[in-house]
Amino acid sequence: MSSHKSIAKITTEQLRKMKDSGEKIAALTAYDFIMASLLDDCGIDVILVGDSASTVFAGNDTTLPMTMDQMVYHTQVVSKAVKRALVVADMPFMSYQVSLEDAIRNAGRFMKEGYAEAIKMEGGSEFTPVVKRIVEIGIPVMGHLGLTPQSIHKFGTYRTRGVSAGEAQKIVKDAKALESAGAFAIVLEKIPSALARKVSNSLQIPTIGIGAGPHCDGQILVSHDMLGLYEKFQPRFVRRYATMAQSMREAFSNYTVDVKKKRFPNSKESY
Ligand code: KIV
Repeated sequence: MSSHKSIAKITTEQLRKMKDSGEKIAALTAYDFIMASLLDDCGIDVILVGDSASTVFAGNDTTLPMTMDQMVYHTQVVSKAVKRALVVADMPFMSYQVSLEDAIRNAGRFMKEGYAEAIKMEGGSEFTPVVKRIVEIGIPVMGHLGLTPQSIHKFGTYRTRGVSAGEAQKIVKDAKALESAGAFAIVLEKIPSALARKVSNSLQIPTIGIGAGPHCDGQILVSHDMLGLYEKFQPRFVRRYATMAQSMREAFSNYTVDVKKKRFPNSKESY
């Protein structure tokens, strides 16, 4: 969506080169224009329009309620702001699980209506035929393994994945299968760092970790978490770089008091 052609866009190919050269990939989430502009100004490589919008933006308990229409809207407003970062849109629950046709149509909507440059979907080898077909028609796909929040009711908990030998083996196998199907990168969520290192070393494509330790080729966090804007829950893997909720509360309280005490607006703020 950028009109500033002079700024070199980050591409999936560049992310692969960053892996090869050992340069770490920095990724964060955005769901709105302002957040996306700020992220892009600061040189973030990948902006994910995550279905985490369901919890940290829309106030739901899980990511399941997010719809395609809502995700397309978030993706549109993010894409409008971004000049450099790669914009990746997250396929919401039930947008790719019912049929291949549905998956292709919905992935296409993100590109046509949301101006996304890639899509992300949760799941392993069970979805590789879908990944393969979407990549074949020209839409880059980012995989997502380990803790996959859309499957919360299958597991009943957000515990670390890949701790047992069986689960770890499946993650390694799934990562290979996604790479073979044409995925350009894979998010590894909440798995032991030794397993994330093994997966990262076994792939040509970059891994982007969230709660997966330092050996991934890149890192992603939910912006609302790292800004201290979403305070309901702080997983151990989240480093808070700001205390935004506290700053906003202070600002809103000061404004309220100023209005009540007739200190706002003053003469300079009036016409
Ligand atoms: O929805 C999201 O924000 C995500 C990240 C946590 C990777 O999937």
